[in-house]
Amino acid sequence: MAEVVIVESPEAGGVLVAGHIATQVRADPEFTLGVATGSTPLPVYAALERERAAGLDFSAVTAFALDEYVGLPRDHPESYHSVIRREVTEPLGLDPARVHVPDGDEATIATAGERYEAALAAHGGVDLQLLGIGTDGHVGFNEPGSSLASSTRVKTLTARTRADNARFFETAGQVPTHCITQGIGTILRAGHLVLLAFGAGKATAVAGAVEGPVTASVPGSCIQLHEHVTVVVDELAAARLERTDSYRWVYTHKPIWQGL
Ligand code: GLP
Repeated sequence: MAEVVIVESPEAGGVLVAGHIATQVRADPEFTLGVATGSTPLPVYAALERERAAGLDFSAVTAFALDEYVGLPRDHPESYHSVIRREVTEPLGLDPARVHVPDGDEATIATAGERYEAALAAHGGVDLQLLGIGTDGHVGFNEPGSSLASSTRVKTLTARTRADNARFFETAGQVPTHCITQGIGTILRAGHLVLLAFGAGKATAVAGAVEGPVTASVPGSCIQLHEHVTVVVDELAAARLERTDSYRWVYTHKPIWQGL
């Protein structure tokens, strides 16, 4: 079962997760972090930046991003290449050569999924994968209906996800219609999944992912198939969970040696 940690605020969640990542990086400077875009992981990155300011060196860390839009030039401010560079690579001082983002170039898109899977496999996979969750339950850009065994491939964005992401673009029409995303099977190959969700808008998706049936209709429910999952939510995102008393009890009594 996923461990569910209910935190006071997104900032507290960021500090908790970043503290764990920092411990891992201290133990293994060549740690491999799976990074996600969206607003949710920002408090984690902010807290990691403070770890860097306090002396932690991230220059040997490798990062693999979950997804990318198809057809946006890499230097477009909302391409995930740009977002990851701006929010992760530069503030944490990662080596750009060790930061991987799926290739959304239309000219070579037919082979991009295969190439990304090969890069992941050659590297030996991801140690810890950060995940957000869409209001419709998507993880990465695996929209409802995505195969639970899927690998990195091109997907069509749903109207709901395009509407959710329109805030990052000048007009809703500018949101690309296609993306390339790690598959659910790809995500499940990471060593540890850390899914974060904050705010009331995520409560239904979180309840479906954590306590609902495992179903392609709620791609986030794939976390139930993984043996090491931490779900970090604030009170608002936890509002529709049924077993919050149990989660709080378990976390309060968690042996310190277990870490996250
Ligand atoms: C996008 C990303 C997902 C992210 C989701 C939620 O669609 N592809 O990886 O989890 O949005 O975004 P936010 O964290 O901004 O709510």
